[in-house]
Amino acid sequence: MRSHYSDQIDRSLIGKELAVAGWLHRRRDHGGVIFVDLRDREGLLQVVFDPDDPEMFAQAERLRGEYVIAVQGVLRVRPEGTINPELPTGEFELVAKELTVLNQSKTPPFHHEEKASEETRLRYRYLDLRGEVMQRNLRLRHAITKTIRNFLDESGFFEIETPLLAKTTPEGARDYLVPSRTHPGQFFALPQSPQLMKQLLMMSGFDRYYQIVKCFRDEDLRADRQPEFTQVDIETAFMDEDSIMLLMESLIRQTFKTVLDVDLPDPLPRLTYAEAMDLYGSDAPDLRNPLVLNEVSDLFMGVEFKVFAGPATNPNSRIAALKIPDGGSLSRKEIDDYTALVGRYGAKGLAYIKVNDRAAGKDGLQSPILKFLPSDVVEDVLKRVGAETGDLVFFGADKIRIVNESLGALRDQIGKDRDLLAGQWKPLWVVDFPMFEETMDGSLTPSHHPFTAPRVDNFSDLKANPKGALSRAYDMVLNGTEIGGGSIRIHSPEMQSAVFDLLGIDSEEAQSKFGFLLTAMDYGCPPHGGIAFGLDRLVMLMAGAESIRDVIAFPKTQTASDLLTGAPSAASTAQIKELGIRVRSPS
Ligand code: AMO
Ligand code: AMP
Repeated sequence: MRSHYSDQIDRSLIGKELAVAGWLHRRRDHGGVIFVDLRDREGLLQVVFDPDDPEMFAQAERLRGEYVIAVQGVLRVRPEGTINPELPTGEFELVAKELTVLNQSKTPPFHHEEKASEETRLRYRYLDLRGEVMQRNLRLRHAITKTIRNFLDESGFFEIETPLLAKTTPEGARDYLVPSRTHPGQFFALPQSPQLMKQLLMMSGFDRYYQIVKCFRDEDLRADRQPEFTQVDIETAFMDEDSIMLLMESLIRQTFKTVLDVDLPDPLPRLTYAEAMDLYGSDAPDLRNPLVLNEVSDLFMGVEFKVFAGPATNPNSRIAALKIPDGGSLSRKEIDDYTALVGRYGAKGLAYIKVNDRAAGKDGLQSPILKFLPSDVVEDVLKRVGAETGDLVFFGADKIRIVNESLGALRDQIGKDRDLLAGQWKPLWVVDFPMFEETMDGSLTPSHHPFTAPRVDNFSDLKANPKGALSRAYDMVLNGTEIGGGSIRIHSPEMQSAVFDLLGIDSEEAQSKFGFLLTAMDYGCPPHGGIAFGLDRLVMLMAGAESIRDVIAFPKTQTASDLLTGAPSAASTAQIKELGIRVRSPS
């Protein structure tokens, strides 16, 4: 049916007879001649129908957009003046000798080159996927996974599959449950990740494992989250965190080099979690943004202004200053909008100082808080942040979490608004995460997952100071997005039990959920560790896409449904009965 794709067409084929096939992209009638752009996977080719063959010409007149056609014809160079330099095949056209309509198409609800609503795009995803951008994105995704597979294969990793009908793996989200017919009242959980299986594979002696694998997490969705997403999941035995990180960064460097011809830094820079929070208010900072938070708590100790005096002396609070070079040009309205932005993160206000004339002392400044502050304190603050004439300095004073989240978001927003982002690719590692995070009710949750090893070797040291403990976890961050995270794992049953204990998982629960892991650790468990990259996020960044939905062939909506097939959908009464479950009518 097809002798050539459109990208295989070149001068050597001039005068030859070719067979091409694809979709009718566009049709133009020009005074008795019909021109058709035929689209195949690789591009477009112009086909010409002359009126000399009345039967074929009549058929060509009936062609409509998205008809599927096959054409045989002779390739020729387009006449002078009709060459299209925009198109790789713009020099040529195929003079049709035979036309076969393989299928018709109704008028599509939208043309894939138009900007349709996302709902329409997802409902008719197969039409949307015909568009150039989606074709390019999925092709890029293929190139990326291929490079990753090649690298891991060359580095001695085995690809091993693990079950999807599984037991719960705690990665911090809700599970998707699958009722068992053969065990009424019991459920499989779709894996949030293959975490425990890959650890068992290390205990089984495979040393280096990987899998490009679906993970399932029932959580609130955002632009970079899907309920069903893909990880490049990796585990190694007998390697420490340094060697794992170096190997993994070469994987990402090679992927960028092969696919985009981009050289990422070698080695990747590293920041500790504490440094990242201090400087950027985030553990996934976008290093393309030059703005940084300055710690200024110490300068406000003892001032009368209560908004600052309290946080200055409270160890759970901080005061940070964000200098905006040339920020003096910000309008009242812009400052109000930024105040509303930080308010969404719990900040009670957004104090600022505009530096109109740095040489004029306090008289050269404009600020709602100036009247509350002694001149020497103001001077010290301006010195600390290096403020110059024309700059503006924002302040956040509150609980550490609120200051970090609000000023972190403000930093991102101002970076975008003022076009401050410099450099295209800024990857880094974030290391030395705290082992645990404290929840609202004072209990501990793992900051990575409960199988992550603490920096301390001895579990009594961990129990003595769990809140101060650091973990052996590492995240890879690219342009403000966490693209991967991993850790060295606990490999002693005693330490694993101690961590469960600190997390408030009693031994009965630990046995019922993870007994198989604890038992396996008793039979010669090697030291091991690994990482998982979020493949969709990596592809999204490399494709320059706004959302991970744009790099997934059939994604779910924000409310975790599939508009194309209409999933999820009701099950029949018979199916439900067979599964031994009952459905309450939705209230
Ligand atoms: P983690 O939970 O950090 O680690 O996940 C690893 C990476 O997966 C991506 N990711 C997601 N991508 C899209 N949608 C989601 N809902 C989603 N959730 C996570 C992120 C993240 O960095 N088992 C551990 C890994 C390990 O320790 O080896 C794990 O799953 O890019
Ligand atoms: P107030 O005394 O509440 O009117 O606040 C004086 C200035 O401090 C205003 O510009 C507020 O936006 C700002 N402000 C109030 N609370 C905070 C806070 N927690 N952090 C930073 N600025 C604040």
